[in-house]
Amino acid sequence: MRSAIRWAATHGAMRLAIGAQARRGNPDAEVLRDAVVREDPYQHYERLRTDAPFAGGAFARVSVHHDVCTEVLRSDDFGVIGGDRTKGLPPLLRKALRLAGPRPSIGPLDPPSMLAVDPPEHTRYRRMVSRAFSARAVTHFRERTEQIAEELLDDLARDAVGGQPVDLVARYASLLPVTVISEMLGVPVAMREQFLAWGDGASPSLDMGLTWSTHRSVERNLAELDSWFRGHLRRLRADPGDDLLSQLVVAADDDGSGLSEQELVATAALVFGAGFETTVNLIGNGTALLFGSPDQRRLLVDDPSLWPNAVDEMLRVESPVQRTGRRVKRDTTVHGVPLREGELVLLGLAAANRDPEVFQDPHTFDVTRTNARDHVAFSSGIHFCLGAALARMEGEVALRALFQRFPDLGPAGAGRRRGTIILRGYESLPVTLGHPASAPSGERSTAVPG
Ligand code: HEM
Repeated sequence: MRSAIRWAATHGAMRLAIGAQARRGNPDAEVLRDAVVREDPYQHYERLRTDAPFAGGAFARVSVHHDVCTEVLRSDDFGVIGGDRTKGLPPLLRKALRLAGPRPSIGPLDPPSMLAVDPPEHTRYRRMVSRAFSARAVTHFRERTEQIAEELLDDLARDAVGGQPVDLVARYASLLPVTVISEMLGVPVAMREQFLAWGDGASPSLDMGLTWSTHRSVERNLAELDSWFRGHLRRLRADPGDDLLSQLVVAADDDGSGLSEQELVATAALVFGAGFETTVNLIGNGTALLFGSPDQRRLLVDDPSLWPNAVDEMLRVESPVQRTGRRVKRDTTVHGVPLREGELVLLGLAAANRDPEVFQDPHTFDVTRTNARDHVAFSSGIHFCLGAALARMEGEVALRALFQRFPDLGPAGAGRRRGTIILRGYESLPVTLGHPASAPSGERSTAVPG
């Protein structure tokens, strides 16, 4: 009953608003409403691109400009939306939400998730985990990531006996990041398929205007993940190891400024989920982009030192996180537009990454682009992706190992995109492997042409 009220007052009401705007031809609303439109959202983002800093979105101002998005994300005049999600809602809906109470389990956009709080809480949570994901820490994990990639590619080759197509997302793109983040945090790798199922089920929690059945499924998956994490952290408290989560638990207990149980679970679950629900899309999108651009693929074969830049270019043209939002904390002005306290502002990260003011021929995928790294695919300001260095390293290692091991890798039919709005990636991507480049082990030689 409470869940139904919560859905009706948030997603249900938003679905109605989005539907009404879409019928009036609002491009933002069309993208939000329609999975077919989202197959290629970029032409619709262009309909929002005028000289004005903001366009009228489905239910808030939206910006597709790189400079406007960056300014908002870096400004102290804006905070995250999560703090009070009832702000700006009509009084009846606010009352309904108060009646329903908070959701039983914490989602990535609910406080005390790091993504849903402003300083000083944000600073405290982020400080607890930032060292573990520094560029230096990530360099240490590179070799292990390369081993994981090779092991998964061995398995893939075994599965593809007789030239059978294999699903690259299920067998590789999702398994690599979930294995890496599990090992980094010290959660059982043997449970990775279960984690992926929970993560997939929970990922629409970032979206707006969910159907009742998706909302129910999100709540169920979040609750199961939440409950597993609570149990796991309890086990670590009794018997800590030398992994990151044990360090967090110990720090929370030893130091008066440490995290409460709720904060601990929110931080652990966010870092874990963000660690694989996004990178899978980078690997899938990157593969599809290279399938569609043989010339770019050839450049990478001829000059493998281009791989890191190619990964940034993939993040730019097919951003795994398409948009984010902020709330105006105090009356302010952005590029001459006055904004009132409490107003919601949406930042089209993927559209800003195709801003012609910053990127020449913005719709062209060019692995040699000199300013590819100027994208905002990892956001900007204090919430800049904690895992950016890790994601870049994983993307590079995963894609490079894949295309170098299987130079004839190719699509085996059309891939299927995920239904999510904020996260853009593939649910499945059937491929044939072709001949491996070399056969260092007996098992590898079992892969045959597709
Ligand atoms: C290609 C992969 C990834 C992309 C595109 C991505 C994108 C993003 C974006 C856009 C944000 C900020 C959202 C906002 O400003 O509202 C963010 C935040 C975050 N990301 Fe990532 N991410 C990726 C991988 C990862 C990985 C591997 C981790 C694992 C540690 C991670 C952990 C986080 C965390 C904890 C935050 C919250 C940071 C904060 O609020 O201060 N991400 N990510």
